[in-house]
Amino acid sequence: MNDLERFFNSHAGPLIHKWRHYFEIYDRHFARFRGGSVNIVEFGVSQGGSIQMWKDYFGPGAKVFGVDINPNCKRFEEPGVQIFIGDQADRAFLRSLATVLPPIDILIDDGGHTMKQQIATFEELFALVSPNGVYLCEDLHTSYWREFGGGFRRRGTFIEYSKSFIDGLNAWHSREPRRFGVSDFTRSVHSVHYYDSVIVVEKRPMAPPTHQRVGDAAFADYAPPKPGLLAAIKRRLKRRGRG
Ligand SMILES: C[S@@+](CC[C@H](N)C(=O)[O-])C[C@H]1O[C@@H](n2cnc3c(N)ncnc32)[C@H](O)[C@@H]1O
Repeated sequence: MNDLERFFNSHAGPLIHKWRHYFEIYDRHFARFRGGSVNIVEFGVSQGGSIQMWKDYFGPGAKVFGVDINPNCKRFEEPGVQIFIGDQADRAFLRSLATVLPPIDILIDDGGHTMKQQIATFEELFALVSPNGVYLCEDLHTSYWREFGGGFRRRGTFIEYSKSFIDGLNAWHSREPRRFGVSDFTRSVHSVHYYDSVIVVEKRPMAPPTHQRVGDAAFADYAPPKPGLLAAIKRRLKRRGRG
């Protein structure tokens, strides 16, 4: 059990609502930021419980920025915690947020979970995530739920949208530069991790990948048997046996 889970299990303060399997994911991607001066942004403040959890987990150097559409959430402000009120589907609001937020080490999207909200938030704020930061969007199961704009393989869901991240990661190897080429995403993203209902995008400044050969070139003469060769030999031996 990790510290987030421990905090959650013994928590009696303001309500926190998380799927249980998220704690392992959080700890896997967030642990390296603990104890440092870290800027965390969480969309979706609700009752303020998760803000307390992040403060406890990251320590006194953490600054937590909460964003929620509900103006009542402003009451959760305290030293080290700043709350912004606005609609995460509203790009003008997100752009104004980008002008006041510091570089973000970790962004967690646990807001309204509609496709429009998730995509707008990613498109407007991903660039603000620092070069070694982490972007996490949760409750992606709404990509399969009609009432959130989802549906299996439906165009415009966050899951479908995020599939292009895979091309972005691999664009160094593109032989169709007019269709897809190296982008800011390619240059700034180290890895994309999919879990049940969660995607994590880890940033890292990336250089074009390199490869090399090591070892004795004489061994290159050795060629492994062609697929199907063994079966062909067996067939031939069988035929001879018959004959
Ligand atoms: C799932 S709750 C957040 C739970 C909280 N992070 C926790 O772990 O306990 C979702 C929150 O997103 C907020 N929300 C819904 N639609 C929003 C929108 N369009 N923009 C910003 N926040 C929104 C809701 O007001 C609600 O407080």
